[in-house]
Formats: sequence, structure tokens, C-alpha cells
Amino acid sequence: VTIRRQNYLPFPYDIVAVELEFDLDPASTLVRSRLQLKRLAPGPLVLNGEDLELLSVTVDGQSWEGGRYQLDAQTLTLDGLGDEAIIEIASRCRPEANSTLMGLYVSNGVFFTQCEAEGFRRITWFPDRPDVMSRYTVALRADKQRFPQLLSNGNLIAQRDLPDGRHEARWEDPFRKPCYLFALVAGRLTWRESRMRTRSGREVLLQVYSDPGSEDKTQFALESLERAVRWDEQRFGLELDLDRFMIVAARDFNMGAMENKGLNIFNAAYVLADPESATDANFSAIEAVIGHEYFHNWTGNRVTCRDWFQLSLKEGLTVFRDQEFTADMMAQELDAQAAASARTVKRIDDVVTLRAAQFPEDAGPMAHPIRPDSYQEIGNFYTATVYEKGSEVIRMQQTLLTPAGFRRGLDEYFRRHDGQAVTCDDFVDAMESVYVQDHPGRGLSVFRRWYSQAGTPRVKVSLDHDAARQTCTVTLEQRCEPVGVERLPGAPTKQPFHIPFAIGLLDAAGKPLPLRLASEAETRDSLLLELTTQRAQWTFEHVAAKPVPSLLRDFSAPVIVDYDYTDAELALLMKHDPNAFARWEAGQQLATRTILAATRARQQGEPFSLHGEFVEAWRAVLTVPGLDAGYRARALTLPSEKTLAEYMDQVDPIALADARHETLGALGRALAADWRAATEANQTPDAYSPDPISAGRRALKNLALAYLMAGSVEGAQQQAQAQYQGARNMTDRMAALSTLVNYGEAAAATAALTDFYERWQDDPLVVDKWFTLQATARSTTVETVEGLMVHPAFSLRNPNRARSLVFQFCLNNPIGFHRADGSGYRYWAEQVLALDALNPEIAARLARTLDRWVRYVPELSESMRQALQQVRNHPGLSRNVTEIVSKALEIA
Ligand code: ARG
Ligand code: ZN
Repeated sequence: VTIRRQNYLPFPYDIVAVELEFDLDPASTLVRSRLQLKRLAPGPLVLNGEDLELLSVTVDGQSWEGGRYQLDAQTLTLDGLGDEAIIEIASRCRPEANSTLMGLYVSNGVFFTQCEAEGFRRITWFPDRPDVMSRYTVALRADKQRFPQLLSNGNLIAQRDLPDGRHEARWEDPFRKPCYLFALVAGRLTWRESRMRTRSGREVLLQVYSDPGSEDKTQFALESLERAVRWDEQRFGLELDLDRFMIVAARDFNMGAMENKGLNIFNAAYVLADPESATDANFSAIEAVIGHEYFHNWTGNRVTCRDWFQLSLKEGLTVFRDQEFTADMMAQELDAQAAASARTVKRIDDVVTLRAAQFPEDAGPMAHPIRPDSYQEIGNFYTATVYEKGSEVIRMQQTLLTPAGFRRGLDEYFRRHDGQAVTCDDFVDAMESVYVQDHPGRGLSVFRRWYSQAGTPRVKVSLDHDAARQTCTVTLEQRCEPVGVERLPGAPTKQPFHIPFAIGLLDAAGKPLPLRLASEAETRDSLLLELTTQRAQWTFEHVAAKPVPSLLRDFSAPVIVDYDYTDAELALLMKHDPNAFARWEAGQQLATRTILAATRARQQGEPFSLHGEFVEAWRAVLTVPGLDAGYRARALTLPSEKTLAEYMDQVDPIALADARHETLGALGRALAADWRAATEANQTPDAYSPDPISAGRRALKNLALAYLMAGSVEGAQQQAQAQYQGARNMTDRMAALSTLVNYGEAAAATAALTDFYERWQDDPLVVDKWFTLQATARSTTVETVEGLMVHPAFSLRNPNRARSLVFQFCLNNPIGFHRADGSGYRYWAEQVLALDALNPEIAARLARTLDRWVRYVPELSESMRQALQQVRNHPGLSRNVTEIVSKALEIA
């Protein structure tokens, strides 16, 4: 069944207060719920429930049996209630048998909950929707030996021992909240804590809990939390509103983390780190995710979503906030130039993610606006579009309003909606109320189409230079083909978007031209053009010769730019564009052209060699003075296969992967001396620190090693082996191991992999890395992966482990996965079905790896179609996987 946004109806009851009592037992947990409700409109009380055993129902203390309620597989309906009532429901659930990891489950002997989006209904019958907000009190009872820590939302108000070795804790959350923010944790945990004063002077307790033995790995997480609390006060004036804020690490977790009020539950991968076992990327992901969940306390919890179509209201906004947090943390304590470069590095990383994950999504069968109009299973809509494109849509509002105006808009949003469950329109209304003050006569009505239309707009740029008048006219023309459900009959025609498009112009020598619009007196270095119609033009004066345009600076909108640059113009931008983002972009485009040409050459059996111009442009980025290492590393990284595939009419994944590898090797050889010099110049001999300068050095040094290894350059193998053995941090050790496994001698690679497992077999997060390395190795086949699946350390039940092997193979091993005999796709079908029996949400994510099947060469796409069909025909398929595979087959 399809749920539609337009069918929203408010819930007819207010659930004023909720009292929950848990008798926690892994095999069978008893849950008593007491709901105090008030009628708001006529109608029965319909409660959601799933996989529950109902024991009893009473209304105002009277048993409500004998036909006074109706029970089916998904709902419990009570008729004939008064205007006010107290409902008491007793039920049982089975945490230990719950492999979905939604609702109440057990991981490593500890009870956890995950309620967003619709998991609370697996705990007790309740109106499981975000616009029903209540005050919660919770009593947790369990065996004291096995479950010494009993945690829930809000404040701990009482604790006592019970007979039979049990104990009880009572928690009270002072804030009204939707049930998706409910949480409990019970088990044996260790923790680290600190106290700080919020800016109004209140003392708060911050705690990070994790499994015993991991206590030395939580310091960075706790410090990240402290930084997040400070940053939200300083940047947005938002203060922590609780006396106590807890983070708990879980080994089994479906996603990254969850912002439950005062009790965030995290995938352990985003909490635990130390230099020996975690990489620079792990450290930065931890800080970002801790920030993200903490920032939800205001954007998500204080103001929440009216319904799940509004998910981007909290997710897009909170991703934007975590991206800004990271950028500010990276830039702090650096001089102005280094700070600007650090921000650009963060922007590049975010755009790389958007292009690799969101652009393909937005062109495929699951394409949806950041505020979808319909879904079959909401768990399928925690997507790159809702999150990452959602963040871009918020960022564009900040660009249009300026950061100061955006801040006023956000203040206004909280002034209007604190404590409410609202919509994306409510958010834009608050922003628009500020926008109109600064832009009389204009509004955000065209801008709002970013919320209702899917697809990545393309902006075609053309330049007209008039030598006689010394003017240059820039024409922007947008188009956005219907995608996903927009292609079904009856869909409305698409309207132009409001696109903030930042540009600059350079002369033939690479000097920036001051921009002066025909209508204005001012000149600027960079200008924000606002395209709000299908086509528009801007004429610049005093332009002596045809300039080279620097387009979409800082990626000012999530669009694709079409402009016919010559290779020489791209090389010029790579050297001279004062906008560091656009300079990176020029290099990526040049590399894209090179790899696509190499791919065509392979397909036609022709020889291929690198253009000298490309090699020299790459050398310049590596050697010109004045760039920091982190930026250089990004600028010298070749675009990924995923990003490149979007430029091909018919994707030939193996030719593409081989061409990319060939390009890597050729650059490795052509610039060998420079790569070696970069390796020397970027050692980090001091004690490990994950700061962006040191991380940037390691990134460049390790990229250099990868180029040298890919090019089989003399001495590289020894260098990689020495680095693997001698590494004092995981970043360097993993980087060396990865080059050994992908480009090195087979015997040395096997020895290193064995050594790595022996060293780290007791650390699950490192064992995940070990599986990932092998899953993505160039030499890995379906048979290799099947062999790894019977390794004692492998389990499909643990999402991190399944992701590290099965997902990594299907997603990031083009050569192994896309084998011509279709065996990769048959493996995919088997694993989707095996996972679906355990955990539908995770299965549906794996199912999405075949989204783009129609784009592949016919031999491959036909076997992909068969695999999709095989999954779809499977009896008893979950709603999650059904939605994905049927859309893939029907709207491809
Ligand atoms: N709200 C969480 C976040 O921080 C995501 C939770 C989604 N959970 C799920 N099982 N779908 O982004
Ligand atoms: Zn979130």
C-alpha cells in the first residue's frame, strides 16, 4: 500500500501523559503502558502494534474485554471512549529473538531500543506517529547482576533494589516528545563522563557509555560532544536543555545513530576510537555524527516533524548543521588562508558524497523530492536525497539570506514552533519572513519547488563575447527531466527551480576579471546569479576578450553544469581560479575526460596514453607552493567509478574500472619522483593527532603511495611493506595494507592480511576493516566473498559486519561484482533474501545496489533484471524490499 502526503489527518486524541513499566527479560519482556488521553475530535482510538502479544486492556480501571476492542495484526482499536480516559495495556515482546533491530532488542547482552521511524509499535500499542507528543515516565526493572545500568530519557528520579536480585530505575522526561524519541538501555556498561556549564550557567552531566573493555576508546567521543554543545551555543544560540545527556554505543545498529531525547544510541563505529585502531576518517566521522545527533536536540526534538514526509525538515537541516560544525572545527586555530582551505576541503568531501550517492539516486527508480509525496515503507526514505540534498537545500537558503539572515530565520523558526510538530513549509515560511524584509517584492515561492520536485537540474551555460562593445553575456538555461515516480502517467509538469549560481571570470592569462553588470556601478570578484526562470542572461561590461568562466563556485546549488570547456581552459582554471572549490572541480573534469577517453579506448581495443597537458596539470597541483596537503590530496584524487558512471550512456563497469586503474598507474609512473618527494615531505613524526593539518598530510602521503603502487614503481612495494609494519596509527597501517592488497605482490598481500587479522581479531571495528579490504580488492571474486562468509568472524546478523563484506562487495567492487557470467548478481539476490528474513531495513539497502540496472551494457542489465525479478517473485518478501525491487523493475 502507498501512503500519501496529501492524505494527512491529525490524530483525534491528545496523549497527554505516558507511563511505561518494563520487566526486562531477554526472552520475554513485559510492558505495561498507561496512557492519559483527551479527545480532540470524534472517532475511535486506533493504536499501532507489531509482533506483540496482548495480555490485557483496561479503560479507567475497568476491564475492556468482550468485543469492546478490535485487534488485528497491525492495530488495536478502541471504540466508545469518553472525552478523557486512562487506558492501560499490558503486552509482551521478545527482545532476544528480534533480529530487525527495530523496537526493543538485545545486542551483546545489552537491551537497546530503536524507535525511529516506526519501531515504537514493536514495544507497545501506541499512535506511532511523530505529531502525537506526550510526557513520559518510565520504570525499568531487571536483574541487577546482568543489567546494572538502567537508562532512559530525561532525569533519573528514583532507584531501588527489588526482591530476587532485581532492581528498578525510574526516569522522567520533562519535555513532551513523539514516541520515536523514546529510548531505553539496560545492561552492563562502562562509561566516561564530564561536567560542563552551559552558557546560561547550568551544570550538565555528559556521559558516554560503551561495552566493558572499550573504556579507553571513548575520550574523543566525549570531547566531540563537549565541542558540539559549545558550538551550538555560539553559532546558533541553542543551549542544552537537560541536566544530563547520554550517548551509548551499540555493536548492532541499523544506521549511524539515533537522537533519542537525552539518550542518544549510536552505532559503536561512531563512538569508539583510538589512534591504533581508528583512521583519520573514523575520527572525523565520529565528531560529525556526535554533532549531528546532538544538534537534533533542537532541530528534530524541540521542533519535530508533523509526519514522515517532512523527514528532511529535521534531517536536511541537521546535516547542514553538522557540516557547518565540522567546517568550523577544521578551520579553528588556523590563519585565514589555511582556514579557507580547510573549509574547502570539507565542502569537497561533502560534494563528492553527494555526487557519488545522491545524484545517481536522483536519476533512478527511487528518485524522490527531499519531501516525498508518497512511500510504501518509510524506512526506505532515510536517503541521500532527504539527508544530503536536503542539506544542500538548506545551504542554498543560507546563501540567499546570508549567514546573518539565515540565523534570524532560524531564530524565527524556533520562536514560532518550539514544542510543535511541523512541516517543511513552516520552516521555509520562517525563512521567507526574513527574506522579504531584505528583498522587498520577492519571495521564496519558486525556491519551494526544491521540496516538491525530484531530479538533478542541469544548467547549460553559454558565453557571448561582443568585441566591439567589450561586453560578455552569460546565459543560463535550466532543465530537469522527470525522474522516478514523476515519469508515471498523470504526474504534473516540472517547473523551473530557484538556482543560486556563483560565478567569476578569468582572462586568458588566468587573472580574475572584476565583474561589473551592465545595470550596476559596483564591481566584484565573484557574483551570485539567481536563476529563477528557465533561461536568463546577464551582461558584464569592460570585458576585452572572451573570458574563461569559473562556474558554480563553492557548489552554490546541487546541479550539473554543462559548459564546453577546452582542456586548456580547464588546465588554466586548475592553476589560477581563486575559488579553491572551482579549481578542484576543473581538475575533476579534466580527469573525468581522461578516464572516459581511456575507457573508450579499452572498449575499442585501442592503445591509450595520457595527454602531456593532463600530466603537467596534475604535477602542478602536486608541486606548486602554497597549497595545504589535505587540499592537494583531494585535488589529486581521481573521480570514483560511481561518479564517472553517471557520465556514460551505457555503463561498462569493468572497462571503466580498468581504465581508472590504468590512469592511476600511468600518473604514478609519470610523476614518480614528485610522488616520492611528497611522501618525504608529508611525514607526521609527532604523536598522533586527528587534526585536519596532520590528517591532510597523511592523506597526501598515502595517496602518493597508492599512485606509486598502482604504477608498480620501483621500490614502492618495499615502501608499502615497511609502512605497514612500522605504522604507529591505523590510518597509515590501513593505507599501506590497502595498496598491498590492491596493487602489490600477492604473497606479501596475503601475509599482511593474515598478520592484520591476528593483531586485531578481538576488535570488531577493525575486523570490519579487514573484511572491507578484501571485499573491495581488485582480485576478489564472488568465490572469495563466499569463502569469507564462512569465516568464523562473519555474521549476517550484525549490520556492520554485513556491510563490511556483502555491501562493500556489491557496491565497491566493480570488477568482482559485475562479472560477465552474472554470478555477482545471483550472489546479490541470495544475500538480499537471506538478509530480508532477518532484517528488512538492511536487506532493502542492499537491494538498492541494483537501482541503476538499466544504465548498464545490455548483457549485464539483462542479468541484473533477472536477479531483481527473482527477488521480487520470492514469497513472503518484506514491504521494504518489495518497494525497492518493484520500483526498480517498473520505473527504471
Ligand atoms: N534520525 C537518525 C539520524 O540521526 C536516523 C534514524 C533512522 N533509523 C532507522 N532505523 N531508519 O539520522
Ligand atoms: Zn539525523
